[in-house]
Amino acid sequence: MTEPVVRVGIIGAGNVGGALVRLLADESRSSALLDAARSRLEVVGVAVKDEKKERPDIPASLLTTDAQALAAREDVDVVVELIGGVSDARTYIETALRRGASVVTANKALMAEAGTELIEIAFANNADLYYEAAVGGGVPILRSLRTSLAAERITRVMGIVNGTTNFILSKMTSDGTDYASALEEAQALGYAENDPTADVEGFDAAAKVAILSFLSFGTVLDGATIEREGISTIRAVDVAFAKRSGYVIKLLGIAERVGDHAISRRVQPTLVPDEHPLASVHGAYNAVFVEGVTTGPLMWLGQGAGGEPTAAAVLGDIVAVARNKVSGRHDTPFSVDRTLQSFPPGELQSAFYLSIDVLDKPGVLASVASVFGDHDVSILSMDQSGFGDEARLTFFTHRAFASDVSATLKDLEHLDAVDAIGSCLCVIDGGTA
Ligand SMILES: NC(=O)c1ccc[n+]([C@@H]2O[C@H](COP(=O)([O-])OP(=O)(O)OC[C@H]3O[C@@H](n4cnc5c(N)ncnc54)[C@H](OP(=O)(O)O)[C@@H]3O)[C@@H](O)[C@H]2O)c1
Repeated sequence: MTEPVVRVGIIGAGNVGGALVRLLADESRSSALLDAARSRLEVVGVAVKDEKKERPDIPASLLTTDAQALAAREDVDVVVELIGGVSDARTYIETALRRGASVVTANKALMAEAGTELIEIAFANNADLYYEAAVGGGVPILRSLRTSLAAERITRVMGIVNGTTNFILSKMTSDGTDYASALEEAQALGYAENDPTADVEGFDAAAKVAILSFLSFGTVLDGATIEREGISTIRAVDVAFAKRSGYVIKLLGIAERVGDHAISRRVQPTLVPDEHPLASVHGAYNAVFVEGVTTGPLMWLGQGAGGEPTAAAVLGDIVAVARNKVSGRHDTPFSVDRTLQSFPPGELQSAFYLSIDVLDKPGVLASVASVFGDHDVSILSMDQSGFGDEARLTFFTHRAFASDVSATLKDLEHLDAVDAIGSCLCVIDGGTA
């Protein structure tokens, strides 16, 4: 009996697309792939931008620069979008879905912006839309949320979902370097772009939080509305103080249920206790930590980027699409709960870490402490360090409302004894961050 054939069109053959083409051509995998997909996966076209680039792994007969035509080709069963960006990618994906072809993408920016509409288009046209590689690269967290945890009441999802920032913060922690030097090293090693804004200011992580929150809680895919703070203002002194105090600073993407009707979604540099599983995730690795009412804590860890790990996740999606096609089914869309509200950031409660540069003179501590008291922010511990221009006060607070801590900082800024506010970071304590 000859096996069914599922025809694959790949748009984009860069880091991920190139690795995917190699995986699909790898003869040592072909038998396992045939079994898994219950069909033979045949690459029938690869669209790229620059026709002059050398591509020794891709037969010239497959190459095209007309991505739109490849997406529209009636004999292509699954279109794999691996170009990134929003506008062109959206056009190609919509073209494929509207004619009933399934789509696999690794595009978090697009899914976070237009995922809700694309999923509806897929469903209306009896097509699948899978996007496992959009969060955590090679870490298979999304399918776990969609399937294994579909019946779980998830309370919180926290992730180190950006390898660039985790590399920079890990360097600052292990070597004591400042942010600028750690970023320079990340750029030299290819972990950070020349323009690192999307990573270091948390935009990339916010898109991933939107997707994680959608699959965990059913919130609408709207990455732009997520509270976001980056790591470019994190100082070496704060990283060192956190380390001495038993914490490590991580950029966390967090989505958590607050009561029955609200979800807090945010990206923020956070003090993570050394004993928390996320504290041991170093370098460019990614991890997602999920807490469910019945499952308790769960964690996924792995390579959040890189052509091959990401292509492996894309290939898993292609296999899922192929199996669906052969069995004549397609996925039902994950439902959105439009009654869920965004929890107001100021009403969040957390323990906080604050560092304040102060004048080195008597009475400063008392005046600073009284401002905390004015706003009901209770101090857990305090440290005084440095002399002269280096004098600094560092506080850990008990759990406090974020709005009260903001008001405290505002008043402290106006105090004569205060030179500058250094950092104000949430502390996760095993409870609510
Ligand atoms: N790289 C990772 O580690 C990683 C991890 C997770 C997710 N992702 C996601 O995977 C996607 C691809 O990333 P990547 O790193 O592989 O990107 P990349 O290396 O920059 O490759 C992009 C590819 O798309 C092609 N391309 C761009 N615009 C095109 C257009 N309009 N028509 C046809 N082809 C076009 C480029 O053609 P040329 O080759 O001719 O330039 C190139 O082959 C992105 O959505 C990214 O966010 C990447």
